[in-house]
Amino acid sequence: MSADSATAAVKVSRRRLLGWGGAGLALGATAGGGAAAAAIGMSGDTAPQAGDAVPFYGPHQAGIATPVQDRLHFAAFDVTTGDRDALVSLLKEWTRAAARMTAGRPVGEGAVGGLPEAPPDDTGEALGLRPSRLTLTVGFGPTLFTKDGTDRFGLAARRPPALVDLPSFPGDALDPARSGGDLCVQACADDPQVAVHAIRNLARIGFGKVSVRWSQLGFGKTSSTTPDAQTPRNLMGFKDGTRNISGTDTAALDEHVWVQPQDGAPWMVGGSYLVARRIAMNIETWDRAPLKEQEDIFGRTKGEGAPYGRKREHDEPDLNAMPADAHVRLAHPDSNGGARMLRRGYSYTDGTDGLGRLDAGLFFLAYQRDIRRGFLPVQTRLARSDALNEYIRHVGSAVFAIPPGVRDASDWWGKELFA
Ligand code: HEM
Repeated sequence: MSADSATAAVKVSRRRLLGWGGAGLALGATAGGGAAAAAIGMSGDTAPQAGDAVPFYGPHQAGIATPVQDRLHFAAFDVTTGDRDALVSLLKEWTRAAARMTAGRPVGEGAVGGLPEAPPDDTGEALGLRPSRLTLTVGFGPTLFTKDGTDRFGLAARRPPALVDLPSFPGDALDPARSGGDLCVQACADDPQVAVHAIRNLARIGFGKVSVRWSQLGFGKTSSTTPDAQTPRNLMGFKDGTRNISGTDTAALDEHVWVQPQDGAPWMVGGSYLVARRIAMNIETWDRAPLKEQEDIFGRTKGEGAPYGRKREHDEPDLNAMPADAHVRLAHPDSNGGARMLRRGYSYTDGTDGLGRLDAGLFFLAYQRDIRRGFLPVQTRLARSDALNEYIRHVGSAVFAIPPGVRDASDWWGKELFA
């Protein structure tokens, strides 16, 4: 038994007790977080309830096909060390901490009870909270492979061809301070404090090796990966995620989301590629637009969410019934050579813009098997012609290679990449 699990055996966290009851107590004394999480019945077709744990180990990282949680804390990091071994040990430490936190356990020896002379291993603000379906999903940005022409970590030759740098699209107003990043961590949970706690503790573990480049809080999920559930609405008041890839549609996930063996980057098989875009909405102008214009912009009704020419939200869209510049018509796979992606974005509001307007919008997150066959063709079309462009501005952008899942306690994020 490792020192870590030995400590866990004697110190049963209050959080685990509250979240899991007696089963968690019995398991926690003998098993790692992942095994325990799996044993409390979250595998198979039963979706975890709001307070439960989502299994950490598996062929794919959790947080992609997982039913979308209510809250997001997303962070992009710059790697500040030039030492490959230091980066590897950080990724191992992050993996260990993530396995614990997603199971509702504190980092290391916890927030209390350690040496009084030393800072606690865990910052403590999640004590007493349930696992809240926390998922932590890690990604590697293009600059991890080469930065300013330098191959800092001997990874240049391993950059997957599908991880392309995005071109500048018409209308882009990107802020470099909210774009890019060597690493990313997407934390999703049904409790915002649990998501924030996770990012904070990973940043803390990374002190001296990584620094937070930018981060984004999100609420009110704007996409659903569970078609039977009520579709959430974005800040424009429209149902968003109606025609998304479902987290249980394994055929569509294999075709459009998960990297396959024939895709040319063996270390990425089972992984995916993430495009993140911070899209600001001109909320005040939108709120003065007539209902008919709002509906024309999407090609769907606002109340039911039905596509033009149809009655119900989930009816097959008739693209010809929509205006030529309607968002849904232009984004639909039939307009883009079959391109599809799994959207998993969140709404955000970050105070005001200093001019009396809300700084609000959509933090767009889309997972795909190859950016060149997912986001790129769709956004090329949207940037050129989408009627929605009058009301939005893309102000942040980043792409990441999302490696496959961590298989077991001996595996770690990036093991295949650094092999
Ligand atoms: C603030 C920006 C955006 C808003 C408010 C927005 C809103 C919506 C809404 C309301 C729908 C219809 C419901 C649905 O099927 O999900 C939709 C569909 C869709 N959007 Fe967006 N969207 C935005 C940006 C984007 C971007 C940047 C992309 C990709 C480049 C995109 C891709 C799609 C796709 C693929 C569909 C489904 C089309 C279909 O198959 O019918 N959206 N969006």
